Amino acid sequence: VDTLEVTSASLSYTRRLGSRLGELAQPGDIYLLMGELGTGKTSLVQGIAWGLGIPGYTPSPSFILVAEHQGRLPLYHIDLYRIERVAEAADLGLEDYLCGAGVCAVEWAERALPLFPAERLEVHLRYAGPRRRRLRLHPCGERYQGLVAALRAWVEAEG
Ligand SMILES: Nc1ncnc2c1ncn2[C@@H]1O[C@H](COP(=O)(O)OP(=O)(O)OP(=O)(O)O)[C@@H](O)[C@H]1O
Ligand SMILES: [Mg+2]
Repeated sequence: VDTLEVTSASLSYTRRLGSRLGELAQPGDIYLLMGELGTGKTSLVQGIAWGLGIPGYTPSPSFILVAEHQGRLPLYHIDLYRIERVAEAADLGLEDYLCGAGVCAVEWAERALPLFPAERLEVHLRYAGPRRRRLRLHPCGERYQGLVAALRAWVEAEG
């Protein structure tokens, strides 16, 4: 009921949705992105960066685990693709990012789910055609219910 289902029909829409999310972001926000290869996780984070005022953000293909950028708030772009077991992720010291005043956007969060706080925004992405992606934004906790409500208003206004 609180969950927002969005169909993105283009890369640019996914980025704009991300950008709106970045505009609405608050210190300490945690966004967990989950979905197969090429479903648009990085593209969404690129939009989040733009919305946070990091306009030129193009994720480096070579970044290993955490890329840190300074916008209106710090953005911690975390990619757990190379993590195979939760224990590996537990050794990485993610707590510093998760407890900080920045915004954490985590790709492949499903690889280390037990490490994340219960309060978070989950974004599940699915392939729905060559240019279509299905995004399910699921708020866990009051803060994120408000956030998803604001995003829903944006999605409805955008058509
Ligand atoms: N509606 C859409 N939204 C997002 N990306 C789209 C869309 N339609 C097509 N694409 C394409 O899908 C790809 C998404 O790549 P992206 O790197 O964002 O995915 P990813 O989920 O981060 O992949 P990975 O698991 O490898 O990190 C891009 O090549 C993009 O052009
Ligand atoms: Mg990616």
